Amino acid sequence: MKISVLKEIRSGENRVSITPNVAAQLIKMGYAVQVETQAGQGAHFTDEMYREAGAQVASGQEAFEADCCVQIHPPTLEQCGRLKQGSVWISQLYHLSNAETVEALAKQGVSAVSLDAIPRISRAQSMDVLSSQANLAGYRAVIEGAGHLDRIFPLLMTAAGTVTPAKVLIFGAGVAGLQAIATAKRLGAVVEATDVRPETKEQVESLGGKFIEVKGAEVGSEGGYAKEASEEYRKAQREAVNKSLAQADLVITTALVPGKKAPLLIDEEQLGLMKVGSVVLDMAAEQGGNTAKTAANEVVNTGTVRIVGAVNLPSTMSTNASELFARNIWELLKLLGPKGELDFNTEDEIVDGCLIVQNGNKRK
Ligand SMILES: NC(=O)c1ccc[n+]([C@@H]2O[C@H](COP(=O)([O-])OP(=O)(O)OC[C@H]3O[C@@H](n4cnc5c(N)ncnc54)[C@H](O)[C@@H]3O)[C@@H](O)[C@H]2O)c1
Repeated sequence: MKISVLKEIRSGENRVSITPNVAAQLIKMGYAVQVETQAGQGAHFTDEMYREAGAQVASGQEAFEADCCVQIHPPTLEQCGRLKQGSVWISQLYHLSNAETVEALAKQGVSAVSLDAIPRISRAQSMDVLSSQANLAGYRAVIEGAGHLDRIFPLLMTAAGTVTPAKVLIFGAGVAGLQAIATAKRLGAVVEATDVRPETKEQVESLGGKFIEVKGAEVGSEGGYAKEASEEYRKAQREAVNKSLAQADLVITTALVPGKKAPLLIDEEQLGLMKVGSVVLDMAAEQGGNTAKTAANEVVNTGTVRIVGAVNLPSTMSTNASELFARNIWELLKLLGPKGELDFNTEDEIVDGCLIVQNGNKRK
């Protein structure tokens, strides 16, 4: 079975879904691998490296002439139209908000696997692209936030005086938030964090962060994800965080609720409480933002606070992000086709969760 690694066409995307190392592993499993020319360029994997790994390099329509095409982002409608009937498409699909794409894949008579629909169970952890990429993004959020700050992170005692450590406040202690806490701590900041899921308290504390508890209001979670917070919770959260917000140098917001617009965590009034020169790095910018003033891919200056609307942070670490993404795909293919042929056993919870279209029939 031939797998084709497509070059990402989304603007600003530097990652590639399969690296030369993983291509070599797939070839060992019995697959033939082809790579669209310069697919790995943005992540510093050259066509030559893929050839050395045993893959072929293809261009134009030839790149789509495969039994399975792999990409990071959902296909465009034009890409859907190029796929071979009976072939398999693997990428992130966000099928619940991409009905037109799913329809086009079904019309083309292909099977489609959505990487973001892999269930969040222990057995699927190694295949979870959302986690692998969020982990890197959490690290990068701190580095970018530090770059926008006009002060340093660690305590510094010098002959010219003492510099106190920066205060970092993190909203959302999921995969990205926890990595952000760890990174900010390593850089010497004093870190506080809050989350709607009370079980994150222990995780925050184990990384050396202080957990801000929101008392008297429960939100809870479903399948590991947060549910939408109520107005009552939002009010209690404001009361719990406002003191820390007013003292923070850097705030990182990571809060998402699957299938919904990102929750508003910092409104205009709260932005007004923040210190002059402080920075908010909003990781939820693409989903509408966690602050009242976030604009995706822009730095908004309120006069006192700079709000960085971070977009696609994993692409800024394209080499490592591609390595982890490719590793996730490899693990998934070990399940879907360990012997060089894909076979969908829909009785398996993971396959059932991520197989969105099967031979032209929509399953979700
Ligand atoms: N295979 C697996 O078992 C697996 C894989 C990945 C993640 N998980 C778990 O799923 C959970 C969520 O992970 P994620 O990082 O993808 O989450 P996410 O990206 O959906 O959300 C980020 C964080 O924001 C929090 N949040 C949402 N609304 C909020 C609000 N109003 N105020 C404050 N915080 C808010 C969420 O609780 C979450 O911790 C974690 O517990 C993670 O460990 C499990």
